[in-house]
Amino acid sequence: MKHFTINARNNIGYVYFDLLGEKVNKFNREVMSEFKELIDTLKTRTDLDAVILFSKKPGNFIAGADIQLIQSAKNAEEATELARAGQDLLNQWEDLPMATVVAINGTCMGGGCELSLASAAIVMSNDPAARIGLPETLLGIIPGMGGCVRMPWKVGIAQAFDLILSGKTLTGEKAYKAGLADACIQKENFEESVFTWVNSNLSKLKKRERIAKEPKLGGMGGVVGAMLENNPIGRSVVFKKAREGVLSKTKGKYPAPMEAIRVIEEIGTGYQANFRGKKRDQVLLVEAKGFGQMAATDVSKACIQLFFLTEGIKKANGLTDGKTAETKKIASGAVLGAGVMGGGIAHLLADKGVSVIMKDIGLPGLEIGIQSALALFKKSLKRKSITHRQFEQKLNRIAPTTTYDGFKGSEVVIEAVIEKMELKQAVLKELENFLQDDCVIATNTSSLSVTKMQSVMAKPERFAGMHFFNPVHRMPLVEVIRGEKSSDLAVSQIFQFSKQIGKTPIVVKDSPGFLVNRLLMPYLTEAAVMVSEGVRIEEMDPAMLEFGMPMGPIELIDEVGLDVGDKVGHILHDAFGERMSTPNTFSKLLEQKRLGKKTGAGFYLYSGKDKKDKQLDPNIYQILGVNPEKNKITAEEIVDRCVFSMVNEAARCLEEKVVETPQDVDLGMIMGTGFPPFRGGLLRFADAYGVAKIVTRLEELSKKYGMRFTPSEALKKVAARGKFYA
Ligand SMILES: NC(=O)c1ccc[n+]([C@@H]2O[C@H](COP(=O)([O-])OP(=O)(O)OC[C@H]3O[C@@H](n4cnc5c(N)ncnc54)[C@H](O)[C@@H]3O)[C@@H](O)[C@H]2O)c1
Repeated sequence: MKHFTINARNNIGYVYFDLLGEKVNKFNREVMSEFKELIDTLKTRTDLDAVILFSKKPGNFIAGADIQLIQSAKNAEEATELARAGQDLLNQWEDLPMATVVAINGTCMGGGCELSLASAAIVMSNDPAARIGLPETLLGIIPGMGGCVRMPWKVGIAQAFDLILSGKTLTGEKAYKAGLADACIQKENFEESVFTWVNSNLSKLKKRERIAKEPKLGGMGGVVGAMLENNPIGRSVVFKKAREGVLSKTKGKYPAPMEAIRVIEEIGTGYQANFRGKKRDQVLLVEAKGFGQMAATDVSKACIQLFFLTEGIKKANGLTDGKTAETKKIASGAVLGAGVMGGGIAHLLADKGVSVIMKDIGLPGLEIGIQSALALFKKSLKRKSITHRQFEQKLNRIAPTTTYDGFKGSEVVIEAVIEKMELKQAVLKELENFLQDDCVIATNTSSLSVTKMQSVMAKPERFAGMHFFNPVHRMPLVEVIRGEKSSDLAVSQIFQFSKQIGKTPIVVKDSPGFLVNRLLMPYLTEAAVMVSEGVRIEEMDPAMLEFGMPMGPIELIDEVGLDVGDKVGHILHDAFGERMSTPNTFSKLLEQKRLGKKTGAGFYLYSGKDKKDKQLDPNIYQILGVNPEKNKITAEEIVDRCVFSMVNEAARCLEEKVVETPQDVDLGMIMGTGFPPFRGGLLRFADAYGVAKIVTRLEELSKKYGMRFTPSEALKKVAARGKFYA
């Protein structure tokens, strides 16, 4: 065997899994056939009472099934067969005569978790990197190698739903508390401790007795929880609640979590006592069929494509043509400006283990920055995603200041002061005097030219854009902007640093609006134009929600802030002319200082804690001076006007090389605007709809509504070629 090695210490066998040539262990075809060989060998080892499976990969136990394998299945039947093969293998592992123990000291996902569930015991380390979970529904599929069967058996239905429907992962400590891991032991000297644990639990292990804590049935302890899961009426409550929870989150757009619920319901609870009556194979067949059906959906195909896009980013360095740069892991940074963005960025850095100096011109600014970071850390503490100790540590990483003291120790500085070119240039020139030579400087500008900004700097090459989105802790995208004088090192360092702090970076050319705002602005503008034409907001926002956007365009304008939108709108208008002209719908509200959510009123009115309660202002049409008309245009026309303007602009961006590939556009739109992932991104959507059809539709819209819809030459070229994606 190439990837598995078997050893023994007296009556305890141990196996190392180390997939050659890969950073992580996964189940691909070769591994599956070798795993079968491993099982066959172990079957003959009558000298062994137990066998422990370790991974040789640092930080990883098993990443799961090879997703390319799932993607390669041509239809539901083929995918079902694939699941059956995996199930069969894990059944054989489950049936081995000796006790099987998995020793998890890194990520253990999907198929890895299912292998663990088929083992006699799961031992995890307390290293925060050791995490276990079933993320399949995030890929539009369901666990297909026994996860839907064995997870509810081990942790109860409610807790299994909590894991399977959200795709979340648990640390060793949490998995132990949930009754999923049978032990959580110190990461130091892990392997030795596992041997000791196995030796001292050997008799229980051999009898297959439960060692893990009893599961919290109904997601809670005690009699009520048990009543919920153990009688039909209680159980139906658990299923109903799960379905409601999923629908409220997915709006019915993602079938996989609903299918997981259906499968678990169909399997029933018979499996709790050794499949009571129903044979293991029968219940697994229900799961395999569900898996097959989900794998064949367009949603799962889109989710899997997105997965590969993000995997691609993990391997990329932000440079093209095979170029490399010597980047480093950043330990200390600084942020200039402690406002909305600076405070958010300082919080993010501190959260991800980077010490950060946060500088502002005065104490009031600093106070805002610290308070917003504090509020976010408190939320994490309340949600128990961090401990008190971690809370203190993280908060202490932020050093507020009004001077440049300590900047010499910073490896990266992110400028997030007010959006004014002259101010930014002055700040950057001053800043350079206080830094070490190899410190990289980034600007978080959302609309100003990086090239112009760097033109006043003594060392412009160390400077590039690092455009975060608001709110920083929630929005995954960072646009890395290459100015004319930015060096490869600076671009690559900011790209890698973005990943280090958990963001998804794309490299964008320094041009007005960069990528995301340039695409988003025609969308928002079109929505505002429609309002001024008398299309009802009550129809428009729901139409785009139905399309899959996380919020309607008018609500989004409120969220972004009408002042910000107006500013960016003008910049784009100046740069691109008439097709980007902004409607005066904005100006009427701007005059009244109704800037959106931040001022409590925009198109909507906001009230309550964190301004969470929102309702459309009953007087909004009067204020705007428009007469709305019910069903003035169809929902389809609303969607076409909003979405195809973005597609049209995206084609131009690709031609102008604002970004290099359609993948960049799709990642940017999904991560930066919440464009529905189940559609695979703006351009995957365009390809699926038909680019030529979009051109025809744009021509119609252009005749009806004006030249802004005229299909661009770039889009026509794509239509002639066929698709955005080759
Ligand atoms: N707010 C957003 O949604 C958003 C999104 C992406 C990018 N941005 C960009 O981020 C930057 C900051 O925006 P914001 O919304 O956080 O603004 P803000 O007004 O909330 O904060 C700016 C802060 O900079 C401080 N400041 C001013 N001059 C300074 C100086 N010389 N040194 C240090 N601090 C100074 C101010 O006191 C203030 O606290 C802008 O370039 C903006 O375009 C904003």
